[in-house]
Amino acid sequence: MYNVKKIQDDLFWVGVNERRLALFENVYPVPKGVSYNSYVLFDEKTVLFDTVERSEAAQFIENLRHVLGNKKLDYVVVNHMEPDHCATLEEIVRLYPEVKVVCNIKTINMIKQFFSFDIDTKKHLVKTGDVLEVGRHKLTFVEAPMVHWPEVMVTYDLTDKILFSADAFGTFGAVDGNLFADEVDFDLDYMDEARRYYTNIVGKYGPQVQNLLTKASELEIKMVCPLHGFVWRKNINHFVDKYVKWATYTPEENSVLIIYGSVYGGTRTAAEILATKLSEKGVKNIRMFDVSVTHFSYLIAEAFRCSHIVFASTTYNAGIFVNMENFINAYAAHSIKNRTVAFIENGTWMPTSAKLMKETVGSLPNTTVIENTLTIKSALKENQTETIEALAEAIYNSLPKPKPIDESKTDNTAFYNIVYGIFVLSAKDGNKDNACIINTLQQVTDSPKRVSVTVNKANYTHDLIMKTKEFNVSILTKETDFSLIKRFGFACGKDTDKFSGFENAKRSENGIYYIDETTNAFISGKVISTVDLGTHTLFIADVTETKVLGTAEALTYSYYLNNIKPKPSVAAAKKKGYVCKICGFVYEGDTLPDDYICPICKHGVEAFEKIE
Ligand code: FEO
Repeated sequence: MYNVKKIQDDLFWVGVNERRLALFENVYPVPKGVSYNSYVLFDEKTVLFDTVERSEAAQFIENLRHVLGNKKLDYVVVNHMEPDHCATLEEIVRLYPEVKVVCNIKTINMIKQFFSFDIDTKKHLVKTGDVLEVGRHKLTFVEAPMVHWPEVMVTYDLTDKILFSADAFGTFGAVDGNLFADEVDFDLDYMDEARRYYTNIVGKYGPQVQNLLTKASELEIKMVCPLHGFVWRKNINHFVDKYVKWATYTPEENSVLIIYGSVYGGTRTAAEILATKLSEKGVKNIRMFDVSVTHFSYLIAEAFRCSHIVFASTTYNAGIFVNMENFINAYAAHSIKNRTVAFIENGTWMPTSAKLMKETVGSLPNTTVIENTLTIKSALKENQTETIEALAEAIYNSLPKPKPIDESKTDNTAFYNIVYGIFVLSAKDGNKDNACIINTLQQVTDSPKRVSVTVNKANYTHDLIMKTKEFNVSILTKETDFSLIKRFGFACGKDTDKFSGFENAKRSENGIYYIDETTNAFISGKVISTVDLGTHTLFIADVTETKVLGTAEALTYSYYLNNIKPKPSVAAAKKKGYVCKICGFVYEGDTLPDDYICPICKHGVEAFEKIE
């Protein structure tokens, strides 16, 4: 039985999913499976873009036969000759003897090496910039050598602005029903696999990928159809931004990755203690792996993500511990650069692993070596506390810190001139409802209709939206009573039911409450993307429902401050410290900590002003 997915009226996915495969390329675990994508374009001529791996040929042929029906196949475009995409090429030629094989000159020799059919009578040779007209569609070709093999090219449909991108923009993971990246939570569920796919498969060829990205940036691209994983038709730039980072070996995050190879636990314990010390210094998102337990492909992906890498290895056969040595060879083979590295070595009688690791890793381009190497003889001892502390300190000091704001150039009162509204942001997880007050609703696009909200991570509503990806925003009016702001803004939803006894809330189509009292509209959003802003998360959402609830004028932040918020009591006015402009809470102290969160309304330091 066929399994075909329609992309648009004249374009179909005829690929296959592989979920039984233990190791892709006989190397990489694919716990979520992998898809081999193939596409058929219908026009005056029919065009097949690439084929699939031999093991899945039967399903692929069934898909192709179904979608073509009685039509003949005019062209098969070979963007990439690796057998996961071309293994069934010979079968296609046998089934459709009149087909022309569209390929570049480098592909010809590979076809002759892999197959025995007569390519010379079937070839339609193309090079960069050539155009193949197949009716309404005009196809052009861009050679992209070493993304991932030397013969690779990509095809661009000049008519519908579709890029058939070969291995680029692919991901590990089968296409589970949904073919489009915007139909899944890609960042949450697939970005790690996309990174692991990119870094391990083409990570070595960053300059070549940069060339392709430069060429692609000159094209208007409405859709990307890669050979693995999802088709991209929305938010393409988000994925392109990741590719730019990966191709330029730019760390995605200033964070520390610790990889250890330990036989009897001494090296592991030192790695664990280092991680604790780094955490105590405020380093966030530390990741640690046992090199003998985690497949190297996951470690390579993490090494591309993190700015700092600690290699901790015992000495083994007078060299580096065998699994660490394998990883280090893979690390060097992927040409990873622009990293800061540190070393821990262990050895009961002759520790040598740090020197050896440093020789390989430290010689990679633009690699900064932290010289405070920690040497252990069997196990870390009390008298080495200062040494490991010094290593943690050196790593911490080398991590980029946020640039302090030049107070002489910033006048905080400038922010007061921004016009904000005041809104109730509500969410629901199972039987648990919650809501908070925000001032950050924006409509960001009209077609499609999208809004954004920014929410402090300390808010329980933030956690609910992170989990469920849905919310409502109720737009408050100038008739709002302070008690409503207090109910939703000045308590924590983790230990209170903010809707208890509240009668002016109704549920919208998504099942979440909206406020039906002193509001003039509500908007329901389904999150499509998140941006981590440190203390806050920016949620970008498709609008799923809206309703006008009244005609009263919307409440602005300044109207709230001047007309609704109670004036500080005489007692509060006499206090020294900082006052929260949202709820009036007074922090008594000379200096407000940078990461301070108002215990009442959960706003950060930006909401506080000094009591003069
Ligand atoms: Fe998916 Fe380079 O093959």
